[in-house]
Order: sequence, then structure tokens, then C-alpha cells
Amino acid sequence: MFFSTIVSALLLAASANNCNASPINAQSLIVFSPRITYPKAGMTWSIGSTHNVTWDTSNIPREKKGSMGRILLGYNGTESENLDVEHPLATAFPIDHGRVSVTVPKHAKPRDDYFIVLFGDSGNMSPKFKIRKP
Ligand SMILES: *[C@@H]1O[C@H](CO)[C@@H](O)[C@H](O)[C@H]1NC(C)=O
Ligand SMILES: *[C@@H]1O[C@H](CO)[C@@H](O)[C@H](O)[C@H]1NC(C)=O
Repeated sequence: MFFSTIVSALLLAASANNCNASPINAQSLIVFSPRITYPKAGMTWSIGSTHNVTWDTSNIPREKKGSMGRILLGYNGTESENLDVEHPLATAFPIDHGRVSVTVPKHAKPRDDYFIVLFGDSGNMSPKFKIRKP
């Protein structure tokens, strides 16, 4: 799909480059962006509750198997994306596990348009879900 297209393009570029002896570090160019499979669109999380965020690991490139991830909570405000970088929901977990447990922070304000962003090398956004008082 999208990712494999990028890899194929990089591999082609790399092999093309071999002839003129200009080394290219394909590993640093691969951007892996896993698709989030949970939370689902429109679901509700209660403040203080715990959930397993999950993502598709089937197309993680071998070079990225050891990467650590980070999950942030956010919503799109009128002016900009509001990503709560001060309070990550999870940090330093292995991307290739495909799952990490997160707890909805006590300071989260109820809204209908939250999403999470899973960062490996680049960020991938979940669909929108709601956070409510318990
Ligand atoms: C998260 O997944 C683990 C392992 O499958 C399971 O033991 C745990 O109960 C799950 N937690 C939630 C909140 O679903
Ligand atoms: C939030 O805004 C960004 C950029 O404006 C957009 O790409 C993204 O799809 C929006 N996310 C949600 C969950 O609405």
C-alpha cells in the first residue's frame, strides 16, 4: 500500500545510486506510520479509565522493529491542533508490540473530538472519539 510504495521507491533509488557510488542510507529515509486500529471512531472513553491502544504492525519494516513509540492526546481546535505534549499517554514502548495501555488523564476536559497520535518516526492519527466524565 502507501508504505510499500515508499519502500519500493527508496529501494529503486538506492539501487540506482549504487552505480555512481553515492551511498544512500535507506534506513534513515524510511518513514513508518502505523495505522491505529483502536480507539474506533465515535467511541467514548471515561476520564480515569484504561484502554489498550492498538495498531497494525503487519507492515513494520525490519529496520524499524526496535523503534520506540509515543502516544499523545489531541483535538483540532479552531486555530490549530492541540496536542498535549506535556502529558504523553504513553512513551518509550516498542512499536512492534502493536499495543500499549493508556489511562485517560484526570485533567482531560470532556470533548467529542479527541484523537490520539502514535509517533514512531512520523505521526499517525486515530479517528475521533469522545472523552466523558465517568
Ligand atoms: C489490555 O491487553 C492485555 C493483554 O491482552 C489484557 O490483559 C488487558 O486486560 C487489556 N486491558 C484492557 C483495559 O482492555
Ligand atoms: C485535524 O486537523 C488536521 C490538519 O488540519 C487534519 O489533517 C486531521 O485530519 C484532523 N483530524 C481530525 C481527527 O479531525
